[in-house]
Amino acid sequence: MSGLIKSSIARKVAMALSGLFLVFFLLQHFTINFTSIFSADIFNELSHFMGTNPVVQFVLQPVLIFGVIFHFVMGFVLELKNNKARAVKYAKYNGGANASWMSRNMIYSGLVVLAFLGLHFYDFWVPEMVHKYIEFAPEDPTRYYPELLHKFESPVRTGLYVLSFVFLTLHLWHGFASSFQSVGFNNKYSAAASKFAKAFSIVIPLGFIVVAIALHFNQH
Ligand code: HEM
Repeated sequence: MSGLIKSSIARKVAMALSGLFLVFFLLQHFTINFTSIFSADIFNELSHFMGTNPVVQFVLQPVLIFGVIFHFVMGFVLELKNNKARAVKYAKYNGGANASWMSRNMIYSGLVVLAFLGLHFYDFWVPEMVHKYIEFAPEDPTRYYPELLHKFESPVRTGLYVLSFVFLTLHLWHGFASSFQSVGFNNKYSAAASKFAKAFSIVIPLGFIVVAIALHFNQH
């Protein structure tokens, strides 16, 4: 059993499963954020529910944070082990002939997404935790939309978000599509699944870009 956990196949499966879980999170996160561009009320209502529901707060949120940390720690481990296993470094690598540019650079696109998450937690998650669990400020169900709008006032921050979403596409493009194979999904639907993953990798980050830009130009 411990041999299995330590095996590189098991690590790839763990990476794929945690990645797939984060893809689900991205989809729900995008859906909620997207409502902000056409209805402040709906966004407030959904955010208030997510921010105060005990199952979301004390079960789903810790699972999500664990999922994020697990995925990036495992990502580093995989990269280190792969580098070690590859006695002759990229010098012998024949570029795109062996593996696509994006698959070889998952660690870099991942690092940009990680840096984005640092900024993003500083922007939203930290103030939220302070508001709720340090200041114990009274809950105002209409506060979410103005807080969100305020964050996208700055063109620099909006630009950083947009740039990060481009890297998110690069990361998902290879990560999501190859995750099916890593979990052993290998049948007549594999090609369709891969196409779906690639479409998702473009559509969802593009949607996030639309949200960021719309909020930036919707200041009032
Ligand atoms: C325009 C794009 C985005 C907007 C407007 C946005 C907005 C928000 C907001 C308002 C929160 C709420 C924090 C809270 O109440 O706890 C949040 C949390 C979070 N966001 Fe985003 N987000 C965006 C893109 C992303 C992307 C692309 C990712 C992942 C790569 C991401 C990952 C997270 C995570 C992990 C949390 C913490 C969730 C929690 O545990 O509460 N966000 N975001």
